[in-house]
Amino acid sequence: MCGIIGYIGVEKASPILLNGLRQLEYRGYDSCGMACLDKDIEVRKGVGKINEVNNSFSFEEINGKMGIAHTRWATHGGVTQKNSHPHISNNGKIAVVHNGIIENYQEKRDELKEKNFEFISETDTEVIPNLIQYFMDKGGDFVDSCKKALTELDGNFAILAIHRDEDVIIASRKGSPLVIGIGENGFFAASDIPAFLDHTKQIVYLYDEDFVVMGKTLSFYNLKEGPVFRQTHTVDWDVEQAKKGDFEHFMLKEISEQVETVKKAIQQEKAIVENICDEIRRAKGIFFVACGSSYHACLSSSYVFSKISGIHVNVVLGSEFPNYTHFLNKDSLIIAVSQSGETADVLEAVKEAKKKGSKIISIVNVMGSSLTHHSDEFLLLNAGPEICVLSTKTYTAQLGLLTLIAYSLAENYEEGKKKLEFLWNVIYYLTSANTRNKIKELSEKLRYVDHLFTIGRGLQYPTAMEAALKIKEVSYIHAEAFAGGELKHGTLALIENGTPCIVFVAEDNEKEILSNAMEIKSRGGYIIGIGPKNNEIFDTFIKVPEANSMNPIIHLAKSVTVK
Ligand code: BG6
Repeated sequence: MCGIIGYIGVEKASPILLNGLRQLEYRGYDSCGMACLDKDIEVRKGVGKINEVNNSFSFEEINGKMGIAHTRWATHGGVTQKNSHPHISNNGKIAVVHNGIIENYQEKRDELKEKNFEFISETDTEVIPNLIQYFMDKGGDFVDSCKKALTELDGNFAILAIHRDEDVIIASRKGSPLVIGIGENGFFAASDIPAFLDHTKQIVYLYDEDFVVMGKTLSFYNLKEGPVFRQTHTVDWDVEQAKKGDFEHFMLKEISEQVETVKKAIQQEKAIVENICDEIRRAKGIFFVACGSSYHACLSSSYVFSKISGIHVNVVLGSEFPNYTHFLNKDSLIIAVSQSGETADVLEAVKEAKKKGSKIISIVNVMGSSLTHHSDEFLLLNAGPEICVLSTKTYTAQLGLLTLIAYSLAENYEEGKKKLEFLWNVIYYLTSANTRNKIKELSEKLRYVDHLFTIGRGLQYPTAMEAALKIKEVSYIHAEAFAGGELKHGTLALIENGTPCIVFVAEDNEKEILSNAMEIKSRGGYIIGIGPKNNEIFDTFIKVPEANSMNPIIHLAKSVTVK
């Protein structure tokens, strides 16, 4: 994942682009760079985080009222100066920044080399400016040459391109996010709205293969359909939501926002939820499709759907979905869950399901994201921007909304909504400084372990899986989740003296999970109990009130992170 931003208008571009890059740094921080057009294109780029590179290259010194910038997470080619973006055409006239992966770049690179083009980087991106130059050398103008070049590319891209002799920025996307901002002093294009939220809330969400010419005006095309009209939306995010504020980092900020975001997730139009419930009741074969934390939210919700509404759903990882498409037909229902609405494996799954005539309902957090374009209906989580790469507030928001749907399916919409609204004060306690300090103390004990296990039964099993994912994503400690009943099938042998194990306890299977905890304890494990009641088995205990079908929301509302 990389971040790109472009600006063209009446103000100096470099400060705007630098500030935008800082808002996009969560998307990648291996290297960064900027290209602005004044009398000529000036490019400055380097390896390292944005502030480090800016300290040595002073981006804000670059002149010009239009430019593009990039912050990189290396996928093709190592983290080197030459591989950092922007990339320049052989004739030095074209600069391009790119987020995505060009799958046929090697083939295009070879074709261009046969036409005496040279390459200085190992990246897939470098074929783009040279392909544009190739078409211009054949007599095409900049706009048409960009269209021709992009049409030759397989894979996914969000690109911004400028030419030394043209007062326009070309912006185009296929499978990678890109939004347009319409400001009073100019136009913006970026991977994510927070990059230019300081300047405008007027947003145009692009569809796949949209192609925008940003100059004194905005012209919208689609590489397949030709000229198109795209709606302008006003986002209701405030600028502060997209900033860390007084918090040390976005993860802490977004964890603390859960007091509000679980409530916001269930503020849905009842008629829309009930309409979705009718689709669920009509369907013959229901598939939840998601990745990462969203997958765990779906797994957790499949228990709730079963318990609360007596409905069976299949839960499938986006990347595994191709193994199930032969089951699909026009009576199948896909419920795609994705915070970003841009996860490639989920988008791919949904596109395949649509080919079978299946109905697509999606649950996303980003209005205008690709997934919303491929869905028959969608619900928004209303959680505000989730900048942290880890899904925290949107995880509990997904659980809240899916639980509400389960209650609505059981004709208990109001009861479900009331129970979910009541959770806020539990979440308030769990995300308070007092709980955070207790977790900090615990993390001091765990920060140097090599292995950590999490276990749970029933609804607490997906919770244990999500906890293990969080610990891996944040602390790079190997953490593994098990259903409590599975430990005896081989895993127990891995428990050594002091091996930590987080045990998620709930009333409906307390006896069984405590017995599993005892098995671990008997082999010297260090037991961290999370649940409504302390127990002598626990070496550390974090109290979480019993919330039955809503336990998954509060068990993870705090974040058990190990430094
Ligand atoms: C991964 C993130 O890249 O994508 C996870 O690290 C996230 O935190 C997963 O849950 C799925 O993302 P999304 O946007 O489809 O919910």
